[in-house]
Amino acid sequence: MGKVIAIANQKGGVGKTTTAVNLSTSLALEGKRVLLIDLDPQGNATTAFGFDKEKLERTVYHLMLGLSDLGEVILSTEIDKLELIPSNIHLIGAEVEFMDHPQREKRLKEALYGKVNIYDFVLIDCPPSLGLLTLNALVASDSVLVPTSMRILRYGRSDSTFKDYKTRKEAL
Ligand SMILES: Nc1ncnc2c1ncn2[C@@H]1O[C@H](COP(=O)(O)OP(=O)(O)OP(=O)(O)O)[C@@H](O)[C@H]1O
Ligand SMILES: [Mg+2]
Repeated sequence: MGKVIAIANQKGGVGKTTTAVNLSTSLALEGKRVLLIDLDPQGNATTAFGFDKEKLERTVYHLMLGLSDLGEVILSTEIDKLELIPSNIHLIGAEVEFMDHPQREKRLKEALYGKVNIYDFVLIDCPPSLGLLTLNALVASDSVLVPTSMRILRYGRSDSTFKDYKTRKEAL
């Protein structure tokens, strides 16, 4: 599995954030240096590490819009070796604001490019959709991890996430 891993599934409530939080914590406790990027406007991964979403001055939104450098948006967590780029509700507006930007699907990749070599793993917690945010995560990642529920309707959606990933990766 590659170093930059998107955790994605367009279906909601299938364990994306739980996987992102637990996997990043486990890797850090094993001694790996890890960066977790919360790319969901719900900000649940941000909350999981004890941050007050409403009080954040800089988030992944600022990074993707080029308003802040990587170093300015990274927060230390209580877990040694685990750092977080937080998110909050303001990220909802980003998809609309990106629309007119050139190479709008590469904003995250370009923000990370050449700057995450110090990490053993970069995990990206995606929102439950296949919009521009998830597309940015897929473009920025080496691989995608798709948590799923074995309930038949949910599995059907996961299957389409895989197909969409492959199609979009090939197209970009
Ligand atoms: N492996 C699991 N087994 C049972 N319950 C789980 C498991 N993983 C997560 N859950 C529970 O499922 C619920 C949804 O989990 P989580 O928030 O991680 O999903 P999500 O895919 O990130 O949701 P969203 O799409 O809204 O971001 C939570 O209540 C969580 O505790
Ligand atoms: Mg989630």
